[in-house]
Amino acid sequence: SDRVVLGPLVGAIDQGTSSTRFLVFNAKTAELLSHHQVEIKQKFPKEGWVEQDPKEILQSVYECVEKTCGKLNQLNIDITNIKAIGVSNQRETTVVWDKTTGEPLYNAIVWLDLRTQPTVERLLKIIPGQNSSFFKTRTGLPLSTYFSAVKLRWLLDNVEEIRQAVRDGRAMFGTIDSWLIWSLTGGKNGGVHCTDVTNASRTMLFNIHSLEWDSELCHFFDVPMEILPKVRSSSEIYGLMKSGALTGVPISGCLGDQSAALVGQMCFKDGQAKNTYGTGCFLLYNTGQKPVLSEHGLLTTVAYKLGRDKPVYYALEGSVAIAGAVVRWLRDNLGIVKSSSEVEKLAAEVGTSYGCYFVPAFSGLYAPYWEPSARGIICGLTQFTNKNHIAFAALEAVCFQTREILDAMNKDCGIPLSELQVDGGMTNNKILMQLQADILCIQVVKPSMPETTALGAAMAAGAAEGVGVWSLNPGDLTAVTWERFEPQINPEESEYRYARWKKAVMKSMGWEI
Ligand code: G3P
Repeated sequence: SDRVVLGPLVGAIDQGTSSTRFLVFNAKTAELLSHHQVEIKQKFPKEGWVEQDPKEILQSVYECVEKTCGKLNQLNIDITNIKAIGVSNQRETTVVWDKTTGEPLYNAIVWLDLRTQPTVERLLKIIPGQNSSFFKTRTGLPLSTYFSAVKLRWLLDNVEEIRQAVRDGRAMFGTIDSWLIWSLTGGKNGGVHCTDVTNASRTMLFNIHSLEWDSELCHFFDVPMEILPKVRSSSEIYGLMKSGALTGVPISGCLGDQSAALVGQMCFKDGQAKNTYGTGCFLLYNTGQKPVLSEHGLLTTVAYKLGRDKPVYYALEGSVAIAGAVVRWLRDNLGIVKSSSEVEKLAAEVGTSYGCYFVPAFSGLYAPYWEPSARGIICGLTQFTNKNHIAFAALEAVCFQTREILDAMNKDCGIPLSELQVDGGMTNNKILMQLQADILCIQVVKPSMPETTALGAAMAAGAAEGVGVWSLNPGDLTAVTWERFEPQINPEESEYRYARWKKAVMKSMGWEI
């Protein structure tokens, strides 16, 4: 039969902490035509350590691209209509590889990893006033295990092969976007070593005002600048795919996944915000062309720069380390569910946690506390408590954590958000969405297509100079519709539960590492 003619299409690689996806969109309407997803292994070699295999990540990308193209072929959709590819990725996760062999020199150290806590403490001692916010005006970030600079420092301190590769001029550093783009554009045979401003802004080596690597910060962290990728905008042609079904297609969009979601939700204006529920949970608030420093534990980050000559936009960010990861933990570590989607069923059967509170501080607490000594707790248990209540408490924890960052955001910005735009895999969970509206006491608004992160990366790729198949005009995205969740409990009950949650959070702090 005849092939379906749709006009230009754009692909997006979404490399998250839990899984990799490749999705193909119609550039005119943003309709999602096909996709493929592969789960990624996480290794926990020691308590607090989280690693991934960069080769497995790369393979998963190739697999997703090939499978999606196969599905499109079956739908009679011509893959030669794919005009560009965007990359969005888990941020901060650190890879060092050998440019002569194309091989990683160590596993990727995942953003959640806590091994750098002693490194952070050692560095803190040499910072004036031992102030962990000392570099905040320059980087937007506090000194924490979360960001790439300390992970890279740990690798340089502990892995002789990496030190040797640096001495020989063979080492390359990158976050996942850099590792993927370098590999996909040819790797050891001429791959392009670059990153974009959003990913660079999560390393703590990047000056968010000058948009350049900061030599003083590199000196402070003792990082050789020659191993860093070139920093580019989030929307421009970086290079061409060198193998597979999409050989020759330009890679022309690159954004950290949370920035990509902001673009995909079309939060282009000052004061617009979104919350993405992935492995973690990240609320980004667009502050326009000026960076705003938080006084309530939020980060300042580069939101996007959609073209070489386009202005840079900034965001305030509330980062929560554990959201979807708590569901995976119930599945993999406790075994009380077989699949992540079963959690919704368990929670729905009881509709309450019965006074049980679950603080999933597996990697310490991020915003607004930045408390590395916190560890997970489940409290308020009685003989009546069962796995249903624990499942409910796990979902509720995601909502309470979001409430905490929304409160901080409202304090920093002065104007409270009147509704919250949400996206990400967990937003398919209706119980979670209703709970979120109940706990925030404002409307929660969810797009029909929750893969907003991939959409944002596709938009950036399709709009790039030299590609020009996507207009970035919100009115054009006719395939996107919205679902609304209204608060259904009274604010007093909501406040009562939130107050109990805060009490539980206090109990989660102060455990020895
Ligand atoms: O900062 C980490 C973040 O980018 C990870 O995103 O979607 O894997 O939770 P996700």
